[in-house]
Amino acid sequence: MGAEQQATAVRAATDTTVRAADTAVRAATDTAGAATAVAHPNIALIKYWGKRDERLILPRTDSLSMTLDIFPTTTRVRLAPDAGHDEVTLGGKPAEGDARQRIITFLDLVRELAGVGHPAVVDTENTVPTGAGLASSASGFAALALAAAAAYGLDLDVTALSRLARRGSGSASRSLFGDFVVWHAGRADGTDEEADLSSYAEPVPAGPLDPALVVAVVNAGPKDVSSRAAMRRTVDTSPLYEPWAVSSKDDLADMRLALGRGDLEAVGEIAERNALGMHATMLAARPAVRYLSPATLTVLDSVLRLRRDGVAAYATMDAGPNVKVLCRSADADRVADVVRGAAQGGAIHIARPGPGARLLNEDG
Ligand code: PMV
Repeated sequence: MGAEQQATAVRAATDTTVRAADTAVRAATDTAGAATAVAHPNIALIKYWGKRDERLILPRTDSLSMTLDIFPTTTRVRLAPDAGHDEVTLGGKPAEGDARQRIITFLDLVRELAGVGHPAVVDTENTVPTGAGLASSASGFAALALAAAAAYGLDLDVTALSRLARRGSGSASRSLFGDFVVWHAGRADGTDEEADLSSYAEPVPAGPLDPALVVAVVNAGPKDVSSRAAMRRTVDTSPLYEPWAVSSKDDLADMRLALGRGDLEAVGEIAERNALGMHATMLAARPAVRYLSPATLTVLDSVLRLRRDGVAAYATMDAGPNVKVLCRSADADRVADVVRGAAQGGAIHIARPGPGARLLNEDG
């Protein structure tokens, strides 16, 4: 197939996937007033690190992720016209502090878009074990965007929903879709509206990879520095930030090709170098942000050992010390055993590619 034909085939495949996702998210929007949505976390293989606009949550670079099939978040939003204020519960308990404020700020945005001022009752259930080291903000804001848009009667397609989810948490824009997903940084040279419209996520076609992601939780505690604060400090002070942002563009182009040919080794190598580069930018920030711990490095050593023994295994880390190891699905149990030995008692979870966000009808 020539390059042009290949590009046309890729566009057609992407259009079909976006249409299917559209149908799924529109299926239950006829019950305005209350809606329940479910979304899964995603792990970036090409990282989002650094914003160019904090209010609109516009990233400096494109990123690419895999949506997981474990730990969904389910969120129900019900309009409460007679209530005096929003009522937000997380796992059955009233939300507090920053978590509550972020949800209310997000609801304010939905209310403004919908032209409906009613308060809402929001119930969120995360299935991520507490401190599993998998951020629940991606699945959380993807589920909230979908449920709130439906409850407030906003008729948005899945692309617009991914833009909306982005406003809650950048990485949430990617959890609207299943499997492999790219989030476009968008145009930096136009108006705010143009920038907002151009920054959304969409599926990325992949060849037959059959991947698994082994999650090694080496520290289940909360992080010292939020990803929001760490990104800001890195962009503002790290001399390594710009070089990483430039090389991340090449990583993304290489990653698309590797995914397209279903080349797991290349996908893993690119993901690992991109993640280590991101952590290097943080280590060079002033003062340094260091999420990686001695236990992280022990797990990284075990991944190197696996590779030396001929197993395709590659590591990526986010804003925390936990390690996610990409491997072939058939090798997942072996990789989990080796990584468990290195993770010093930490929990191990095995994930595979998961589905995009969807609305549930009222009977579930
Ligand atoms: O979406 P946030 O603000 O939680 O930031 C996520 C940042 C990383 O997880 C480190 C990278 C990524 O692309 O998910």
